[in-house]
Amino acid sequence: MKSNPASSKPSFTVGIETSCDDTGVGLVCNARGRPRPVLNLVRSQEAVHAKHGGIVPELASRHHLEDLGDLLELAMKEAGISWRNLACVGVTRGPGLVGSLLVGVSAAKAISYSLGIPLIGINHLEAHLLTPFLMATPPAFPYVALIASGGHTELILAKALGDYDRLGRTRDDAAGEAFDKVGRLMGLGYPAGQAMDDLSRRGKRNVLKLPVADTGPYEFSFSGLKTAARQMLEKRPPRKKADFAAAFQEAVVTPLVGKSVAAALDHRAKALVVSGGVASNFRLRKLLTARAALLKRAGCRLLVPPPAWCTDNGLMVAAAAFLYFTANHPSDSELDADPSLDL
Ligand code: KG4
Ligand code: ZN
Repeated sequence: MKSNPASSKPSFTVGIETSCDDTGVGLVCNARGRPRPVLNLVRSQEAVHAKHGGIVPELASRHHLEDLGDLLELAMKEAGISWRNLACVGVTRGPGLVGSLLVGVSAAKAISYSLGIPLIGINHLEAHLLTPFLMATPPAFPYVALIASGGHTELILAKALGDYDRLGRTRDDAAGEAFDKVGRLMGLGYPAGQAMDDLSRRGKRNVLKLPVADTGPYEFSFSGLKTAARQMLEKRPPRKKADFAAAFQEAVVTPLVGKSVAAALDHRAKALVVSGGVASNFRLRKLLTARAALLKRAGCRLLVPPPAWCTDNGLMVAAAAFLYFTANHPSDSELDADPSLDL
């Protein structure tokens, strides 16, 4: 999307995301105190890591280093703005791979220092959960957010900007990790979430029964499911891969949907937000949409941002930085990468 080029007033916030294997640069502008999405550029390293069957940290940081400068230049060009139009720079400072995070943090520090603009360090999970502020009608607090990605599966109660309670999380594997590991056993490559999703559309989910873990009300567990799936694949390989994919997907998304909806209703949330790479899953979206009317009757809106905003990207980081910047958060000029940063 092109924005209005360069009035001399700096009104854009740039967001940089390099926590894992996607290099992301996003831009938002100030639309009467709200972050309006301007542009979202992501350079994926999927092809680089696919041949290794998982992320190789050294390769990830090297590619961020090669790509980030180009992507920043491209962002300015595509948005039709100059560096002087930037009012603030935001960057993911954790959690993630330390070498990858450092590339983004160093670049953001250089931008902040050379332009004399504030630098805001952003928690990657918080960026996911603030993503719906980019939508036409943003959520009101309190809201419940499910973040389901390759590294995280978390249910969070967002009470205000910066004020979050973790309601539950996975006890072992993340939902995306479960898709990736089982998909790899099925020969679907890495990452396998989208391929499992595509394959599932041709399968019958009720032909096979896979176990759904019995955990606490807002907790998840996918390692038992993963083991059961592996044993089934080894001992009694399914006649149709699509049926197996559909059954496996059902076993992952059923607790994600059931527990998020329950958490939203239990906490009288004004919205239920779903984000992270797994939020692009077709079946997950379908099951959630089927519960939208029930949620609405309880005064809760279902907000599922578009897939490009759910997977790792710089736009969500720009939005989060913008929200802190307009709330007068001081510049984090000394900020450091923190690979195990918590919410
Ligand atoms: O948020 P994200 O881009 O990066 C992380 O922070 O992990 O999420 C990537 C994860 C991967 O595990 C990928 O397999 C999964 O999200 N994923 C999906 C789908 N698209 C991506 N899982 C299920 N269905 C999908 N359509
Ligand atoms: Zn993520």
